[in-house]
Amino acid sequence: MRILVTGAGGMLGHDVLAATGRLGHEAVGLTRAELDIADADAVREAVAGTSPQAVVNCAAWTDVDGAEAEPDAAAAVNAAGAGHVAGHAHRAGAWTLHVSSDYVFDGAKREPYVESDATGPLSAYGRSKLAGEQAVAAAAPERHTIVRTSWLFGVHGRCFPKTIQRLGDERDILHIVADQVGCPTFTGHLATVLVALAARPQLGVRHVAAAGQCSWCEFARAIVAASELDCRVDPITTDQYPLPAPRPAFSVLRSERQAPTLPSWRAGLTAFMTQVQRAAA
Ligand SMILES: NC(=O)c1ccc[n+]([C@@H]2O[C@H](COP(=O)([O-])OP(=O)(O)OC[C@H]3O[C@@H](n4cnc5c(N)ncnc54)[C@H](OP(=O)(O)O)[C@@H]3O)[C@@H](O)[C@H]2O)c1
Repeated sequence: MRILVTGAGGMLGHDVLAATGRLGHEAVGLTRAELDIADADAVREAVAGTSPQAVVNCAAWTDVDGAEAEPDAAAAVNAAGAGHVAGHAHRAGAWTLHVSSDYVFDGAKREPYVESDATGPLSAYGRSKLAGEQAVAAAAPERHTIVRTSWLFGVHGRCFPKTIQRLGDERDILHIVADQVGCPTFTGHLATVLVALAARPQLGVRHVAAAGQCSWCEFARAIVAASELDCRVDPITTDQYPLPAPRPAFSVLRSERQAPTLPSWRAGLTAFMTQVQRAAA
């Protein structure tokens, strides 16, 4: 089948585009320069011009802290833009697979969030992603899957493991937040599942994140060990590392709807390291 990937130049979009071809589908990837999803007419033309059977929407405003200062600009992409994609895909008879976020939750729970849990975003970014889910469901009521995922890292973008590798090379001690817990999810693993879901869709919201859970501090320690860096990682609290946008303290995602499962975050880190080493060789 033909699958249109929006945001194809991004970290996840890049891997979804690659997985589409690997799984035997015809991939049409459009980067932000080629398609601005906030432009409804451009989305209509892109869908009409490519005639996809499914659209995987990886395009998003992902600057979580920047969204606090520019909530309308974030919403124009994450809410209105997502609605344009789903609406024009729906009118063209195509399925929309839309990517959403653990940041739609407030993080007050202490056991994994399932699809039916109440949302309550803490940040402008989280509110824009929740509004995007609602826009997608309204625009394509019978033809959408919304995949909530979390803490993405991948080879083709800026991500936490790359930051830790750089800082760990420069410093003897890193201070990393230990009171936020989530599921670091490797985009290479997620991309394969997203394409499979686009080809055999399930209607509605699905939680798809790496198995296991950890804090940023535990994740950083695993990255330092895997990278054989001579650097100590000490825990700090969120209060000791203030950022403009509040983050959920706990955002582990699990599915109550038989969503596809992913390998553990440790397996994701191993796969990430292998790909990074291969790219450097
Ligand atoms: N990263 C995470 O930890 C995380 C966690 C949970 C969910 N998600 C979701 O996963 C999806 C993919 O995120 P990612 O991590 O791959 O982020 P990313 O690397 O920032 O990719 C997003 C892509 O969307 C593009 N974009 C921004 N505005 C656009 C617009 N108006 N029209 C078309 N494209 C636009 C960006 O282009 P520019 O780079 O040129 O701006 C970028 O290529 C997003 O829906 C995000 O909300 C991410």
